[in-house]
Amino acid sequence: MRKKIAIVTGAGQGIGRAIALALAKQGTVPVIADINGETAHKVADELKTMGVPGMSQSVDVSDVEAVTQMVRAVVEKFDTIDILVNNAGILHATPIEDITEQEWDRMMAVNLKSVFFASQQVLPYMKAQRWGRIINMSSLAGRMGGYGNGVGYAATKAGIIGLTMSMARRVAPFDITVNSVAPGTTESAILQSFSAERIRELQGMVPLGRLGKPEDIAALCAFLASEEAGFITGAVIDINGGMFMG
Ligand SMILES: NC(=O)c1ccc[n+]([C@@H]2O[C@H](COP(=O)([O-])OP(=O)(O)OC[C@H]3O[C@@H](n4cnc5c(N)ncnc54)[C@H](O)[C@@H]3O)[C@@H](O)[C@H]2O)c1
Repeated sequence: MRKKIAIVTGAGQGIGRAIALALAKQGTVPVIADINGETAHKVADELKTMGVPGMSQSVDVSDVEAVTQMVRAVVEKFDTIDILVNNAGILHATPIEDITEQEWDRMMAVNLKSVFFASQQVLPYMKAQRWGRIINMSSLAGRMGGYGNGVGYAATKAGIIGLTMSMARRVAPFDITVNSVAPGTTESAILQSFSAERIRELQGMVPLGRLGKPEDIAALCAFLASEEAGFITGAVIDINGGMFMG
């Protein structure tokens, strides 16, 4: 059987990188798509050392034309796309009074618009083969407003959940599943604007007593991408150490 091809956005570091590595370990070929071409290239090199023929693509996921070109390049190299992980995201924790229109629009474009248009671009290939997996990175913030997050961030992550359900209904007849994953606070560079005290405080709110690790989230995504997860669609799966139980 041929290996499955997976595009993982924002895979140059953090959770996305861990997802790419987890997918590679289960026999999938990951495409590392990131706005930072250098980190994307490094992760693709890491995959090569594991004997996985990955590929890196420098792409700003908020730019629909750039996403279209990226998908075309992947199909030229690998013929199809089986899995899309819409993981790229940015966080601004700006107070309500200070959020600018520019900041709001950028976050909507990177976190939410990108999820729709990247999915739109890969769906024709998934439909043609009547199999596909789309996994969208939401957040605890999208489930309950978040603790230390800005309202725009929470809005994008809640939007992803609605988009996931709507898309899941429409593509289900093609055996394509669409799910979202909602991590709680997870150790990554996205937390660099949080003070050490704030991190300790957040940790104290987790019943399991620790923050998430990128590998925790990656293991869930790898399962959702697998054959065995074929009856799960339109779901939002919380993964937060018990920080939020909805
Ligand atoms: N870390 C957390 O606590 C946490 C919690 C819930 C959800 N998330 C979500 O998980 C995802 C990954 O976050 P992370 O914690 O690994 O953060 P991170 O900042 O370490 O990684 C984000 C990656 O996305 C890339 N990226 C940013 N803008 C991009 C763009 N326009 N186009 C392409 N790539 C872009 C960055 O270069 C980076 O490699 C995000 O969607 C984030 O909102 C994170």
